[in-house]
Amino acid sequence: MPQTKIAGIGYYVPANIVSNNDLTKYMDTSDEWIQERTGIKERRYADRTGETTTTMGVEAARIAMERAGVTAQDIDFIIFATLSPDYYFPGCGVLLQRAMQMREIGALDIRNQCSGFVYALSVADQFIKTGMYKNILVVGSEKHSFGLDFTTRGRNVSVIFGDGAGAVVLQPTDNPGQGILSTHLHSDGADAELLAMYNPGTHANHWKETAYAHFNEAPIGDMFLSHRMIDDAQIFPYMDGPAVFKKAVLKFPEVIMEALSANGLQPSDINMLIPHQANLRISQFVQQKMGLRDDQVYNNIQQYGNTTAASIPIALCEAWEKGLVREGDLVCLAAFGSGFTWGSALIRW
Ligand code: ACO
Repeated sequence: MPQTKIAGIGYYVPANIVSNNDLTKYMDTSDEWIQERTGIKERRYADRTGETTTTMGVEAARIAMERAGVTAQDIDFIIFATLSPDYYFPGCGVLLQRAMQMREIGALDIRNQCSGFVYALSVADQFIKTGMYKNILVVGSEKHSFGLDFTTRGRNVSVIFGDGAGAVVLQPTDNPGQGILSTHLHSDGADAELLAMYNPGTHANHWKETAYAHFNEAPIGDMFLSHRMIDDAQIFPYMDGPAVFKKAVLKFPEVIMEALSANGLQPSDINMLIPHQANLRISQFVQQKMGLRDDQVYNNIQQYGNTTAASIPIALCEAWEKGLVREGDLVCLAAFGSGFTWGSALIRW
């Protein structure tokens, strides 16, 4: 059975740089608070009308495909991970297929938020291993800047997120030492409402018994979207930051160790850990807990903020472009996010 290799990788971030100081024009926050709690110095925001989640994904995909030496006609499956799609439906996969004038191939959308890219990679890996597809395009892209509360009310969430996209082309390899060694996926819906965007949605307040106090204040969910939902800011993401932090620092090390154990490896064998860029403090905590050196972990949240499904491919690509990921290196990808969902992938580059 062939293994799956990353044949090409690319990323795209919008030109518009938004500093922490820029955000102080809209909300009561400060550069000091944001840097101290999250490590973020700046993030990118997409052009308001010229760029969408899909168009950014297309830009990243073009670079990945060129590096893999394939054309749009060669791609035989698309997997697109995002939580900020152009449309509620259809998904971004078909919009990318149209924009890149690809054949009438399958297009699958993944909605696993911050774990979206690792989930997408895992799905693609199965299709390659079974021989079903030869060139799979996996994209993670987000346009968060369109869906955040830029008032002081939403400051604990809105300062964290940024826009951008990353993409990889996956192909089979017969080199037994190369490619994706294993992937590991998990979920626990017990705390689904701790990091969520409730509306628009079809829940009609059905989950209020299992949800948290703030959610009970939601307007009667007799409609998909109502003026009250907008007035009450129910259309913006909700996050219980401290709860997310606590769970993330447990699950990141756990799922990284799971991947290492499955392959008979140890933390010292990792050449580069690419954690989902949730928060620099989370990455530092994980690094410390696993006893990893600075040169074994790559972070770029300082420049881009948290780009959810795009954060891992952007960071992986940037690390590779800087020569920090080389042939033969053991690369570990790890993610944790809304759901909660989490996962890891171990790759021999
Ligand atoms: N600027 C200034 N003050 C703020 C801001 C802001 N942007 N946001 C919140 N505050 C204030 C709060 O209002 C509160 O003030 P109060 O004490 O007067 O009530 C105070 O800061 C502390 O608020 P907390 O929410 O308790 O802040 P905390 O210290 O927990 O930090 C943070 C918030 C950074 C979100 C933290 O909880 C965290 O890192 N959580 C992890 C979650 C995370 O990183 N999520 C990323 C997205 S999810 C993912 O990718 C997995």
